[in-house]
Amino acid sequence: MSVLDNAQRYGAISRFLHWGVAVLLLWQFLSAATHALLEDSWLDELMWATHKPLGFLLLVIIALRLVWALLNLSRRPAAVSRLAALGHQALYALMIVIPVLALIRQYGSGRAFSPFGIPLMDGFDSEKIEWMVGLGNLLHGELAWLLLAFTLGHIVMAFWHRIRKSHEDVLARMWR
Ligand code: HEM
Ligand code: HEM
Repeated sequence: MSVLDNAQRYGAISRFLHWGVAVLLLWQFLSAATHALLEDSWLDELMWATHKPLGFLLLVIIALRLVWALLNLSRRPAAVSRLAALGHQALYALMIVIPVLALIRQYGSGRAFSPFGIPLMDGFDSEKIEWMVGLGNLLHGELAWLLLAFTLGHIVMAFWHRIRKSHEDVLARMWR
Protein backbone atom coordinates (compact mmCIF):
# COMPACT_ATOMS: atom_id res chain seq x y z
CA MET A 1 0.00 0.00 0.00
CA SER A 2 1.49 3.36 -0.95
CA VAL A 3 2.01 6.10 1.62
CA LEU A 4 0.66 8.84 -0.65
CA ASP A 5 -2.78 8.91 -2.28
CA ASN A 6 -3.23 8.04 -5.95
CA ALA A 7 -6.12 8.38 -8.39
CA GLN A 8 -7.53 4.91 -7.48
CA ARG A 9 -6.99 4.76 -3.69
CA TYR A 10 -6.25 6.75 -0.59
CA GLY A 11 -2.72 6.10 0.74
CA ALA A 12 -1.72 4.75 4.17
CA ILE A 13 -1.52 8.16 5.89
CA SER A 14 -4.93 9.35 4.62
CA ARG A 15 -6.51 6.07 5.72
CA PHE A 16 -4.86 6.15 9.12
CA LEU A 17 -6.12 9.73 9.63
CA HIS A 18 -9.64 8.89 8.34
CA TRP A 19 -10.20 5.80 10.53
CA GLY A 20 -8.27 7.20 13.52
CA VAL A 21 -10.44 10.32 13.60
CA ALA A 22 -13.58 8.16 13.14
CA VAL A 23 -12.73 6.09 16.27
CA LEU A 24 -11.83 9.17 18.37
CA LEU A 25 -15.01 10.98 17.25
CA LEU A 26 -17.09 7.93 18.21
CA TRP A 27 -15.66 8.13 21.74
CA GLN A 28 -16.19 11.92 21.78
CA PHE A 29 -19.89 11.51 20.91
CA LEU A 30 -20.30 8.66 23.42
CA SER A 31 -18.87 10.86 26.18
CA ALA A 32 -21.20 13.73 25.15
CA ALA A 33 -24.27 11.47 25.00
CA THR A 34 -23.47 9.92 28.39
CA HIS A 35 -23.06 13.42 29.85
CA ALA A 36 -26.39 14.54 28.39
CA LEU A 37 -28.39 11.43 29.31
CA LEU A 38 -26.72 9.96 32.42
CA GLU A 39 -25.32 13.02 34.16
CA ASP A 40 -23.42 12.30 37.40
CA SER A 41 -23.48 8.52 36.89
CA TRP A 42 -20.18 6.62 37.37
CA LEU A 43 -20.02 6.17 33.57
CA ASP A 44 -20.40 9.91 33.03
CA GLU A 45 -17.67 10.65 35.57
CA LEU A 46 -15.36 8.22 33.80
CA MET A 47 -16.06 9.39 30.25
CA TRP A 48 -16.66 13.13 30.68
CA ALA A 49 -13.13 13.56 32.07
CA THR A 50 -11.87 12.76 28.56
CA HIS A 51 -14.17 15.10 26.57
CA LYS A 52 -12.16 18.34 26.75
CA PRO A 53 -8.62 16.92 26.35
CA LEU A 54 -9.72 14.53 23.59
CA GLY A 55 -11.61 17.37 21.88
CA PHE A 56 -8.38 19.40 21.88
CA LEU A 57 -6.39 16.42 20.53
CA LEU A 58 -9.02 15.94 17.81
CA LEU A 59 -8.60 19.57 16.71
CA VAL A 60 -4.83 19.08 16.38
CA ILE A 61 -5.21 15.83 14.40
CA ILE A 62 -7.96 17.27 12.18
CA ALA A 63 -5.85 20.36 11.40
CA LEU A 64 -2.99 18.03 10.36
CA ARG A 65 -5.46 15.95 8.32
CA LEU A 66 -6.70 19.06 6.53
CA VAL A 67 -3.13 20.05 5.61
CA TRP A 68 -2.48 16.49 4.41
CA ALA A 69 -5.69 16.51 2.33
CA LEU A 70 -4.69 19.81 0.68
CA LEU A 71 -1.18 18.50 -0.07
CA ASN A 72 -2.71 15.38 -1.69
CA LEU A 73 -5.56 17.15 -3.45
CA SER A 74 -4.24 16.63 -6.98
CA ARG A 75 -3.32 12.98 -6.27
CA ARG A 76 -6.34 11.55 -4.43
CA PRO A 77 -9.37 9.85 -6.03
CA ALA A 78 -11.84 12.34 -7.49
CA ALA A 79 -15.12 12.71 -5.56
CA VAL A 80 -18.00 10.84 -7.25
CA SER A 81 -20.08 14.02 -7.54
CA ARG A 82 -20.12 17.72 -6.70
CA LEU A 83 -22.43 16.86 -3.79
CA ALA A 84 -19.97 14.30 -2.40
CA ALA A 85 -17.14 16.88 -2.58
CA LEU A 86 -19.35 19.46 -0.83
CA GLY A 87 -20.28 16.89 1.82
CA HIS A 88 -16.62 16.18 2.60
CA GLN A 89 -15.90 19.93 2.79
CA ALA A 90 -18.81 20.36 5.21
CA LEU A 91 -17.45 17.53 7.41
CA TYR A 92 -14.04 19.25 7.53
CA ALA A 93 -15.58 22.66 8.31
CA LEU A 94 -17.65 21.21 11.19
CA MET A 95 -14.73 19.15 12.56
CA ILE A 96 -12.68 22.37 12.85
CA VAL A 97 -15.38 24.83 13.96
CA ILE A 98 -16.87 22.63 16.74
CA PRO A 99 -13.71 22.29 18.91
CA VAL A 100 -12.63 25.90 18.12
CA LEU A 101 -15.96 27.20 19.49
CA ALA A 102 -15.48 25.07 22.61
CA LEU A 103 -11.96 26.43 23.12
CA ILE A 104 -13.20 30.04 22.70
CA ARG A 105 -15.87 29.32 25.33
CA GLN A 106 -13.29 27.70 27.60
CA TYR A 107 -11.06 30.78 27.32
CA GLY A 108 -13.97 33.17 27.92
CA SER A 109 -15.02 31.28 31.07
CA GLY A 110 -11.76 32.40 32.71
CA ARG A 111 -11.03 28.85 33.85
CA ALA A 112 -7.55 27.38 33.31
CA PHE A 113 -7.23 24.58 30.73
CA SER A 114 -4.26 22.22 30.53
CA PRO A 115 -5.06 19.29 28.22
CA PHE A 116 -2.53 16.46 28.79
CA GLY A 117 -0.61 18.80 31.13
CA ILE A 118 0.01 21.37 28.35
CA PRO A 119 -0.71 24.79 29.91
CA LEU A 120 -2.89 26.08 27.07
CA MET A 121 -4.93 28.63 29.07
CA ASP A 122 -3.94 30.19 32.41
CA GLY A 123 -7.43 31.39 33.33
CA PHE A 124 -8.21 34.78 34.89
CA ASP A 125 -9.99 36.20 37.95
CA SER A 126 -12.00 38.99 36.29
CA GLU A 127 -15.54 38.63 34.92
CA LYS A 128 -16.03 35.95 32.25
CA ILE A 129 -16.22 37.16 28.65
CA GLU A 130 -19.92 36.88 27.88
CA TRP A 131 -19.80 36.75 24.07
CA MET A 132 -17.23 33.93 24.09
CA VAL A 133 -19.24 31.83 26.53
CA GLY A 134 -22.53 32.69 24.76
CA LEU A 135 -21.19 31.72 21.33
CA GLY A 136 -20.05 28.30 22.56
CA ASN A 137 -23.28 27.71 24.49
CA LEU A 138 -25.27 28.59 21.40
CA LEU A 139 -23.40 26.55 18.81
CA HIS A 140 -20.96 23.92 20.15
CA GLY A 141 -23.47 21.20 20.98
CA GLU A 142 -25.89 22.01 18.15
CA LEU A 143 -23.18 21.91 15.45
CA ALA A 144 -21.75 18.74 16.98
CA TRP A 145 -25.11 16.94 16.64
CA LEU A 146 -25.29 18.26 13.06
CA LEU A 147 -21.85 16.73 12.44
CA LEU A 148 -23.15 13.41 13.77
CA ALA A 149 -26.15 13.58 11.38
CA PHE A 150 -23.89 14.42 8.40
CA THR A 151 -21.54 11.58 9.36
CA LEU A 152 -24.42 9.09 9.43
CA GLY A 153 -25.43 10.32 5.95
CA HIS A 154 -21.80 9.92 4.83
CA ILE A 155 -21.71 6.30 6.06
CA VAL A 156 -25.03 5.45 4.40
CA MET A 157 -23.79 6.90 1.08
CA ALA A 158 -20.51 4.93 1.28
CA PHE A 159 -22.46 1.65 1.58
CA TRP A 160 -25.07 2.75 -0.99
CA HIS A 161 -22.31 3.25 -3.58
CA ARG A 162 -20.98 -0.21 -2.71
CA ILE A 163 -24.35 -1.93 -3.08
CA ARG A 164 -25.31 -0.27 -6.39
CA LYS A 165 -23.32 -2.12 -9.02
CA SER A 166 -23.44 0.80 -11.45
CA HIS A 167 -21.83 3.13 -8.86
CA GLU A 168 -18.13 3.55 -8.09
CA ASP A 169 -17.29 1.44 -4.99
CA VAL A 170 -15.78 4.27 -2.92
CA LEU A 171 -15.36 2.05 0.15
CA ALA A 172 -12.58 0.16 -1.66
CA ARG A 173 -10.66 3.44 -1.95
CA MET A 174 -10.62 3.96 1.80
CA TRP A 175 -10.71 0.33 3.06
CA ARG A 176 -8.41 -2.45 1.85
C1 HEM B 1 -14.42 17.54 17.60
C2 HEM B 1 -14.48 17.78 18.89
C3 HEM B 1 -15.73 17.80 19.72
C4 HEM B 1 -16.96 17.22 19.51
C5 HEM B 1 -17.41 16.37 18.33
C6 HEM B 1 -17.80 17.57 20.65
C7 HEM B 1 -19.12 17.17 20.81
C8 HEM B 1 -19.95 17.57 21.82
C9 HEM B 1 -21.34 17.19 21.96
C10 HEM B 1 -22.13 16.31 20.99
C11 HEM B 1 -21.81 17.76 23.10
C12 HEM B 1 -23.22 17.57 23.72
C13 HEM B 1 -24.11 18.74 23.46
C14 HEM B 1 -25.46 18.55 24.13
O1 HEM B 1 -25.53 18.09 25.28
O2 HEM B 1 -26.47 18.84 23.45
C15 HEM B 1 -20.72 18.48 23.70
C16 HEM B 1 -20.81 19.20 24.89
C17 HEM B 1 -19.77 19.86 25.46
N1 HEM B 1 -18.48 19.95 24.99
FE1 HEM B 1 -17.78 19.16 23.26
N2 HEM B 1 -17.08 18.34 21.52
C18 HEM B 1 -15.81 18.50 21.00
C19 HEM B 1 -14.77 19.22 21.56
C20 HEM B 1 -14.82 19.88 22.77
C21 HEM B 1 -13.74 20.64 23.37
C22 HEM B 1 -12.36 20.86 22.74
C23 HEM B 1 -14.21 21.13 24.56
C24 HEM B 1 -13.55 21.99 25.61
C25 HEM B 1 -12.33 22.44 25.59
C26 HEM B 1 -15.58 20.70 24.70
C27 HEM B 1 -16.40 21.00 25.78
C28 HEM B 1 -17.73 20.67 25.89
C29 HEM B 1 -18.58 21.08 27.01
C30 HEM B 1 -18.15 21.93 28.23
C31 HEM B 1 -19.86 20.57 26.73
C32 HEM B 1 -21.14 20.70 27.62
C33 HEM B 1 -21.83 22.00 27.32
C34 HEM B 1 -22.51 22.01 25.97
O3 HEM B 1 -23.46 21.22 25.74
O4 HEM B 1 -22.08 22.77 25.07
N3 HEM B 1 -15.94 19.93 23.59
N4 HEM B 1 -19.61 18.35 22.90
C1 HEM C 1 -18.07 3.77 9.48
C2 HEM C 1 -17.65 5.00 9.28
C3 HEM C 1 -17.19 5.57 7.96
C4 HEM C 1 -17.19 5.02 6.69
C5 HEM C 1 -17.71 3.67 6.25
C6 HEM C 1 -16.60 5.99 5.82
C7 HEM C 1 -16.37 5.83 4.46
C8 HEM C 1 -15.66 6.69 3.65
C9 HEM C 1 -15.30 6.45 2.27
C10 HEM C 1 -15.66 5.19 1.50
C11 HEM C 1 -14.62 7.52 1.81
C12 HEM C 1 -14.07 7.73 0.39
C13 HEM C 1 -15.07 8.59 -0.34
C14 HEM C 1 -14.63 9.02 -1.71
O1 HEM C 1 -13.49 8.74 -2.11
O2 HEM C 1 -15.43 9.67 -2.41
C15 HEM C 1 -14.55 8.48 2.89
C16 HEM C 1 -13.96 9.71 2.80
C17 HEM C 1 -14.06 10.68 3.75
N1 HEM C 1 -14.65 10.52 5.01
FE1 HEM C 1 -15.45 8.84 5.76
N2 HEM C 1 -16.29 7.13 6.53
C18 HEM C 1 -16.62 6.90 7.84
C19 HEM C 1 -16.46 7.78 8.89
C20 HEM C 1 -16.12 9.10 8.73
C21 HEM C 1 -16.15 10.08 9.79
C22 HEM C 1 -16.52 9.81 11.26
C23 HEM C 1 -15.74 11.26 9.24
C24 HEM C 1 -15.65 12.61 9.90
C25 HEM C 1 -16.65 13.18 10.50
C26 HEM C 1 -15.47 11.03 7.83
C27 HEM C 1 -15.03 11.99 6.93
C28 HEM C 1 -14.59 11.74 5.65
C29 HEM C 1 -13.94 12.72 4.78
C30 HEM C 1 -13.69 14.19 5.12
C31 HEM C 1 -13.61 12.04 3.60
C32 HEM C 1 -12.86 12.62 2.38
C33 HEM C 1 -11.46 12.05 2.35
C34 HEM C 1 -10.59 12.61 3.44
O3 HEM C 1 -10.24 13.79 3.39
O4 HEM C 1 -10.26 11.86 4.40
N3 HEM C 1 -15.70 9.70 7.56
N4 HEM C 1 -15.20 7.95 3.99
